Amino acid sequence: MDAKIPLCNGSDLVNGGRAVPFDVVYAGQTCRAFAIRYQGRPHAFLNRCTHVAMEMDYQPDRFFDDTGRWLMCATHGATYAPDTGACVGGPCRGGLVKIELSEHGHVVHWHTAYNLKPIEF
Ligand code: FES
Repeated sequence: MDAKIPLCNGSDLVNGGRAVPFDVVYAGQTCRAFAIRYQGRPHAFLNRCTHVAMEMDYQPDRFFDDTGRWLMCATHGATYAPDTGACVGGPCRGGLVKIELSEHGHVVHWHTAYNLKPIEF
């Protein structure tokens, strides 16, 4: 069954600002993920570029480009839309894997899915 996992306070995510990182199990593999806020709404994606499967932030938790308009991979400059994860420029091959979020009260939760689970300790 799908579950909602507490991730952070809504105030931790600022429009165009630093990401909040978290870990998930995606298709059986432990992966880094990140949440950002864009135009008032929180969004989350796997931290895995679709050009080469590697993490995208050159400084921890920094994904936005200088304009705050796009998410950019630091390695070769693939650029993604912050709300959908769609590839909009550079060498990406398809969009980022999106993770559903919800925000209620002051808390942001991420949603599990059939191929997306929390890490078991
Ligand atoms: S690894 Fe992200 S653009 Fe090449």
